Formats: sequence, C-alpha cells, structure tokens
Amino acid sequence: MKRFLKIGIKQIPVLALFLGLNCSDKDLKNNMSEIDKHSFAIPSDAQVVHLDLNLKVDFITKILSGYVDLLVENKSHTNQLVLDSRDLSIEKVELDDKNQKPEFKLGDTIKYLGQALTIKITPETKKVRVYYHTSPQAAAIQWLDAKQTLGKRYPFMFTQSQAILARSWVPLQDAPAIKFTYNATISCPPNLMALMSAENDTLLHADGVYHFKQSKPIPSYLMALAVGNIGFKSLGKNCGIYSEPDMLQKASWEFANMGRMIQSAEELYGKYLWGRYDVLVLPPSFPFGGMENPCLTFATPTVIAGDRSLVSLVAHELAHSWSGNLVTNATWDDFWLNEGFTVYFEHRIMEKIYGKPYVDMLCKLEFDEMKKEISEMGDTSADTKLKLNLTGRDPDDGVTDIAYIKGCFFLKTIENAVGRDQWDSFLKNYFKTFAFKSITTERFLTYLNTELIKDNKHLQESIRVDDWVYKTGLPKNCPKVESSELLKSEIAAKEYLHPEKINTNDWTTHHWLHFMRCLPKKIRSEDLEKLDAAFKFTQSGNCEILCDWFQIAIVNDYEPAYKAMENYLCSVGRRKFVQPLYGKLLANGNTRDLAKRIYTKARPGYHTVTKATIDQMMENK
Ligand code: BES
Ligand code: ZN
Repeated sequence: MKRFLKIGIKQIPVLALFLGLNCSDKDLKNNMSEIDKHSFAIPSDAQVVHLDLNLKVDFITKILSGYVDLLVENKSHTNQLVLDSRDLSIEKVELDDKNQKPEFKLGDTIKYLGQALTIKITPETKKVRVYYHTSPQAAAIQWLDAKQTLGKRYPFMFTQSQAILARSWVPLQDAPAIKFTYNATISCPPNLMALMSAENDTLLHADGVYHFKQSKPIPSYLMALAVGNIGFKSLGKNCGIYSEPDMLQKASWEFANMGRMIQSAEELYGKYLWGRYDVLVLPPSFPFGGMENPCLTFATPTVIAGDRSLVSLVAHELAHSWSGNLVTNATWDDFWLNEGFTVYFEHRIMEKIYGKPYVDMLCKLEFDEMKKEISEMGDTSADTKLKLNLTGRDPDDGVTDIAYIKGCFFLKTIENAVGRDQWDSFLKNYFKTFAFKSITTERFLTYLNTELIKDNKHLQESIRVDDWVYKTGLPKNCPKVESSELLKSEIAAKEYLHPEKINTNDWTTHHWLHFMRCLPKKIRSEDLEKLDAAFKFTQSGNCEILCDWFQIAIVNDYEPAYKAMENYLCSVGRRKFVQPLYGKLLANGNTRDLAKRIYTKARPGYHTVTKATIDQMMENK
C-alpha cells in the first residue's frame, strides 16, 4: 500500500517569506537538491553539531519536558535555523545569551513529517536553547503501565526513533545525513533506571538523575531513551544485559555468546569503536526485533526462546555498529546500505561462530521470505529496486526484504565474483574510509568501482551492478541457496500425516519454521490436531514458531488454537508477528470479526509503529 502526501514539502520559500528573509531562487534550488525529502532541515545553511538534552520523565502525564541546547554551525551565515518537530509544544527559545528571545514559528503539519520549527538566528549564533514538552501521543514513545511489564510493579517507557520519529521527542535536524554528538541529563522517578544510546551506568541512582555522554557523532534516528525497573548483568569485560530484574538470568543465558560475537565482528571488519556493547531487553510490546541504538541495542524479549536459537538478532544489531552506525545511509532511499550490509555482516559473524550449515538455514529461510514478498509486491514494482524513491511517503514503506535480503544477496554476488579475501579487505577499508559519515548508494557505487571493479569487464559482467541497484525484481545472477539441514524439514513435511514417523531430535527453530512452510496450504482440522498433539505447537513458548503455526491455523479454521492466538496478539506487539496474523484473520471471512474484536482489545498495548500498520490494514478491509 503506497501512501502519498497531499501537500509537497517545498514550503521553504513560504517560510522564508514569513520570516522576511532574503533567499534567492538560486539559493533555494541549490539547497533543495541537498535537502533530505523527509526533513525540513537545511544543513548546508545551518547544521546542528552537538546537542545537550535536559529532560524530566513524567509517567503520570506521559510527558517529557525540559530543554535542548543545540550547538549550531552556521555555514552560510544564514538568519534561520530549521528543525524538525512533530507534536511538540515549544515553550520558548533563547540564543547564546539568554536575553535574546528570537522569533520562532511552527509550520503547517504535514503527514509523517510533522512541522518545521524555524528559529530566527544571527550569523554569529552558536547555541540555541529550545524549551519544550512532548505530547502523550508522541509517535516515538511508548508508555507502559506497570501491568504491561514483567514485574507488574513499575511503569516503563522507551523510545523508537528510526526512521523519522526522533522529532516527536526532541526538536532536532532529523535526517540521517546529519550527525552530532550529545550529552543528556534525564530525571526520572527514584527506583527507576534511565538508559540511553550512550555511555551508561550499570547502577541505580537513588535520586533518579542520570547523566549521559555520546562522544561519537550519530544521526538522530539513533537517539534513544528507556526508563524502567531495570537491572544489569555483565557478560564479560565489554558487554552485558539490561532488563527487568526477573528477566536478567534468562536473557544472560540466552545471549552468553555476545563477547564472541564482538570478537568475531572485530576480526572481520575492524575495531568496535563505541566503548561497551550492551543489550537492553524490553517488554514484549517493543515493535521491532531489535534496534541498533549505539552502545545499547534495544531488543524484543521474543528472541529469548530458551534454546539460544534466535541469537542471530544480536549478531545483526551488533553488525550495525559498523554498517549503519559508523557508515550511515544518507537518505532513507539508501536504506539498503544500512540493512543489506548488516544482514551480510550478520551472516559472516554467525558463520564464524556456528558454521556454514547454520547460516545456510538462515539464508534459505530469508530468501524464501523475500521471494514471497516480491511476488506480493509484484516483481515490476519500483519498491523492489535497492535504490528506493520514497518521495512523499513514509520511510517505513521502505522497510521490506528488498533492503535486507536483496541487499545482502547483492553483496554475496560481489563476494562470489571477487573472492572472499579481496572482498573482506574492501569492506574493512569501506568502514574505515566512511566511518562517522553518511553516504548515498551512488557514493558507494563509485567507491566500489574505483577500489574493486575498475575497468574489469569480466567483473562488471558477473556482478551487474545496475541490475541489482536500479532494476526491479531479482537479477538473473542471484546466487542460489541450498540448505542441507532444511532438506530434513522438507522430507519431514511430506510425512505430515504420520507425525510419529518424523525424527525431530536435533531440530532448531529454523527446522520447525521450514517444516511448517513446506506443509500443504490446506490441511484438514483433524490432521492439524494430530500435528498439534505430536509437536505441541499451540503450547509452544517460541514466538517465531507460534507465528507460523497460528497462520496455518487461521487459513484452515483450526479453532483449538484461537484462544492461544488471542493471548499472543494481546501480549506481543512485535510488528513482524502481529501483522501477518491480522492479515490472515482479515483475509478469512470466518475470522474477520474475530480480528476486529482482538484488535480492539490488543491495540492499547501496541506501540504507535505497530498501531499505524494494523490500523491501515483494518481500514482497507
Ligand atoms: N534498524 C532495524 C529496525 C528498524 C528499521 C526500525 C527501520 C525502524 C525502521 C533493525 O536493525 C532491524 O533490522 N531489526 C529486525 C531484526 C533483524 C534481525 C532483521 C527486526 O526488527 O525484525
Ligand atoms: Zn537492521
């Protein structure tokens, strides 16, 4: 479903008029070409290079309030600073010396983008202080009541800024090409711990006041904050787990391999440059699997399966410490530079630790998921190109398997063509050359050409860069994927009427998923009952397995699973899981009303990201 803006975002001339600024047409054109389509900021004029945040966290009103000091580099001696904001109440603005109270204006609200906050500055202005508070509906923030947490005693809050939601909790330049350092002081109720995408303390502060420092330049989508009843458990000298106290033991067992992952990643592509690497396990309403907030990955508890079978998620988020957090996509049209490189890197970390047959399983599952998604999108859809065009749309529309899996397979194609050694040294240099910068797809391609492909006709032919990046669907030279492990599941699926004959002793989550995906589409209820009795799917504690199983149940009107499915939808808010379930429920005439009833009950517990997706599915039905 494509969503277009009704109003364009070329309102900068209007703002200029309003502020009585003199901006020639030529200036505007020059600027426009550099402006991120999803941000109002004009960094070529005035760019924020550092941010000092001072916020109070109020769980009663569900509001963050305080101020932010923005250090500005005024490149063109401009008299305006343009920031992004969404649902923020701006109380007052001060320049360097507090006596200067400049004019400021919030522009019209534009869908997805929010409002431009334009502040009159002088060519000499260094610091702009904005006093503000957030709305209880701030798109980035989820406020959880005590009953929505594991411990049930304390409330919890967390932010999710990617892609363009940071502007709903901090007025800033919300574009991935703009990087800044930050410090923060956060005050929260005593007994609660505050954590950010920065250097974190591991101990509770009795007064509820926490200080943070992120000394490396980061893009705004990596700003993150979480507050709750949180404990810490070390997993070695440079890594550890934060979570609600009752989850610490389980989570540390599950992620015991984190130290090895960091070491493997460093061996591959260079030193980890962010100090410590910790993971914060959030309550189950977290809308994503993981989020690579620097120094502190945010993760869903649904990867804690009890058997360490879903830990590739940690490898993925850790890999972002290079691909994404060091070298960042310059715009959301270049999103595959973040995710394609990260999936590739994730596979390499996993291969080092768990071996090739394991990674072949991941590859096969992902490749099949991508093929399914491409067939749903249509293989001539422009959204199947690596380089996207998200003009006028929510960048969230670009979060598909194209960026992740097609992106990864493009890089595997290059690896196959040039050989692993040469490719690895290219990648190591790539991360070094572009560290702490943001780049476009085109910049990457130029680098690839000069460093690797040069004028080698043979390489050009075997890689076919343009087909991968600028053409739809999957290129002819896409590497083939086979998994000897998953062959076991394919053979087993043929025996589904005789589950007692299937040997599942050494199966991991991946075998189970592939098994379910290889079953016939239509299965009689009594046969599902037999499978369920043999393998205890409905009672599974594994969220991945449950998600696939419930889809099979819905398509086949297998009602014995519905109660468990309802509980699942009311407790898990990870979009990847709930979206296909509502999709299947809505597509089946017998369960459409059930979908609506469950959603009414579950919706208040979901993060805005998940709500937005499911609301739209409900509207379209
Ligand atoms: N950065 C993404 C999550 C994201 C992408 C949030 C775009 C908002 C907009 C994160 O690294 C990610 O890819 N998470 C995946 C897990 C991963 C193992 C594929 C997820 O959440 O499912
Ligand atoms: Zn990712």
